[in-house]
Amino acid sequence: MPEQEIERTAFRTRLVGGVRGADVGSRMRLAGWVHRRRDLGGVYFVDLRDRSGLLQVSLGPEWTDAAGLDVTAGLGAEDVVVVEGTIRARPEANPELPTGEVELRAERIERLSRARTPEIPVYRSPEEELPSEELRLRHRVLDLRRPELQRALRLRHALVLAARNYMDGLGFVEVETPILTKPTPEGARDFLVPSRVHNGEFFALPQSPQIYKQLLMVSGFDRYFQIARCFRDEDLRADRQPEFTQIDVEASFVEVDDILRWMEGLMACLGEVAGIDAPTPFPRITWAEAMEQYGSDRPDLRFALKIQDWTEATRGVDFRIVRSAVEAGGRVRGVHVRGGARLSRREIEGVEAAAKAAGAPGLLWAKRTEETTSGTISKFLGSKELETLALAVGDLVFMAVGADVVTSPALSATRSAAAEAMALPLEREHAWAWVVDFPVFEDDGKGGLAAGHHPFVMPHPDDLDLLDADPLKVRGLAYDLVYNGSELGSGSIRIHEPDLQRRVLGLLGLSDEAIERKFGFLLEALGAGAPPHGGVALGMDRIVQRFVGAASLRDVVAFPKTTAARALFEGAPTRVDDSELVELGIRNVGADPASEPDQESV
Ligand code: AMO
Repeated sequence: MPEQEIERTAFRTRLVGGVRGADVGSRMRLAGWVHRRRDLGGVYFVDLRDRSGLLQVSLGPEWTDAAGLDVTAGLGAEDVVVVEGTIRARPEANPELPTGEVELRAERIERLSRARTPEIPVYRSPEEELPSEELRLRHRVLDLRRPELQRALRLRHALVLAARNYMDGLGFVEVETPILTKPTPEGARDFLVPSRVHNGEFFALPQSPQIYKQLLMVSGFDRYFQIARCFRDEDLRADRQPEFTQIDVEASFVEVDDILRWMEGLMACLGEVAGIDAPTPFPRITWAEAMEQYGSDRPDLRFALKIQDWTEATRGVDFRIVRSAVEAGGRVRGVHVRGGARLSRREIEGVEAAAKAAGAPGLLWAKRTEETTSGTISKFLGSKELETLALAVGDLVFMAVGADVVTSPALSATRSAAAEAMALPLEREHAWAWVVDFPVFEDDGKGGLAAGHHPFVMPHPDDLDLLDADPLKVRGLAYDLVYNGSELGSGSIRIHEPDLQRRVLGLLGLSDEAIERKFGFLLEALGAGAPPHGGVALGMDRIVQRFVGAASLRDVVAFPKTTAARALFEGAPTRVDDSELVELGIRNVGADPASEPDQESV
């Protein structure tokens, strides 16, 4: 069907954004919002806006009826109108506007809705700054009229549609899994929903459909996907919302390669929709290499600046901080910034501040110019060290000393901050990678083990022997999708044998009773003949955010929450009547929460 036919309703002829010179002479009935109104002494120009764009409407005593002129004289920004008239060529075209060659000469105009003075302007001159985000979130309905947000949400729709079609094309079936569930462990806190019928018992909102998709594999669905809403009560940041959407995938009789190949194809397909390059196959890097070379499990590979181990090179350095860190089993690692000697003291301190913000007590540095070698560690570096470090004239080195758990994040931050300070040219604009072989367990900081990701990750077959002997060394068949330093997705091959699953849950410190209570239904399913299976989940919100280059997920979600976990427009969460709580078997304890929401920061 031609576009205009699709646009036509019984109410209006079409959308305004596509009107062009070829339409001159056509009669139209168009509707939308008053973007801006100008009064040129009895002749009016109204920029009419709908979701497709803007069109100038002209109204004047020679061609508009008297009632229409009256209405126009009283029009305010964001009033909703319907206009009827003929398209004609504009005497002077406006090259800034796609519809700039034409206008609608309105014979009639009717105001359909009056808008109060908008709290945040929808029409802004190019110089005008956006109002604060808090104000915009409070008036989200108006903010959503902004073209950037309209574009982001439309792109999001196109990406979801493309993802559905792509998965369908590979034989994946979309199955909806419950929203009222039993808790799923993904490492965050659950949002709980009290049961009215069973007082004292709770559903959890799903942190992900993880267990359900595994159950579907046991049920023989073979290839499942879902555009799934997930809920996590965790500390929020620019790239985290308490509810978000995953492209959730699971398949049976697969190996790691299958999942990665399918997801590379999916990202190439989505990249095409958004105009983002995603050349496949994506490079793969092991988790151990990523931590060693980039200090992060989601390395930004747009630039090199690899981390180097200088423990040996600095062995003879007589500097207490370095010596005591190495004696305590730590290492000296750092990044070598070619040409970095041109960074000022202030810029270097900026890099140091980034490393400290990432948890390092400090960052050592030395730079070499024609005249001298300077910096916090320079006086301890002899000619031998300068040679082994290859610190050439014009170069700068940053060093962090201590345990890897501290220095890795610090050096990852150092890499990014140094690259920014140097304005390093990017080696590639779109750096995709898989980080593979994540550890199954991590130290929980209390002498026990925590799941590296979730407890269902299949240990690497070569490392099964280490499960009891040295569990922290066990690699999992697990992978993350990383794009420009951001984690877009995560997945693994799963444990499909109930005994091994029990063993891993036991290593995580769960008693037999707790295993049965929490995961009995999964273990029962795995005992019913479970195929080997694996999958992945990609963060839809993060994909859109990255593809449109938005600073925060809030710019790609229609009604987001603030970092203080509030919905400012609708004012949620709210208190409920005590009577409702009684029905749910719940009693408010502790201090009475303030009835007014506290001051927000987004
Ligand atoms: P994971 O917890 O890594 O894995 O989540 C997968 C992807 O979901 C996105 N994501 C989020 N996006 C916005 N806000 C959040 N709070 C948030 N948390 C996660 C990220 C992340 O990479 N069940 C496993 C997947 C699997 O093993 O198949 C899971 O949920 O982009």
